Amino acid sequence: RPDSVTDQSIVLVGLMGVGKTTVGRRLAKQLGLGFVDADEEIEQAAGLTVEEIFDRFGEDYFRDGERRVIARLIEGKRQVIATGGGAFMNEETRALILQKAVAIWLDADIDTLVKRVSRRNTRPLLKSGDPATILADLAAKRNPVYATAHIHIMGNDSPHEITVDKIIKALQ
Ligand code: S3P
Repeated sequence: RPDSVTDQSIVLVGLMGVGKTTVGRRLAKQLGLGFVDADEEIEQAAGLTVEEIFDRFGEDYFRDGERRVIARLIEGKRQVIATGGGAFMNEETRALILQKAVAIWLDADIDTLVKRVSRRNTRPLLKSGDPATILADLAAKRNPVYATAHIHIMGNDSPHEITVDKIIKALQ
């Protein structure tokens, strides 16, 4: 883990549905830091939802915007940053996060993820089939990469405050 953790942003990575946005927002509040959600930043910059960006311009276009937005956020003031599930798969983004921030892999069992994603069915990658199967495939492919984050936290617990407390302990 980098030395000067006290002035580095905290970046949450992990699969869709794990709770990066909810946990990130509450973590930021506890730490007295600002919070930003990378997907929301991309939506604001584009004036479109993530779903609309995928539909109109395709995934590659989204990934390009995602890479640029996260680079900008990492260079900014210390804050808590929630990323979309695919962001950390980009080699350049990952290198930047690992070098300049504290990367936290927020992880959960597939059953937990399936339950949580079912609350919002606007995720483009989950539209093509059974969410449980898609999430399990993504986990198999992505978990080895998420595992390169500095800190690994299981986030199955409810309420999310339990997970927030675990992160705070891990950061100490
Ligand atoms: C994606 C995750 C989404 C969003 C996009 C692609 C992914 O973010 O960036 O739909 O590739 O895992 P969340 O992880 O916040 O759902």
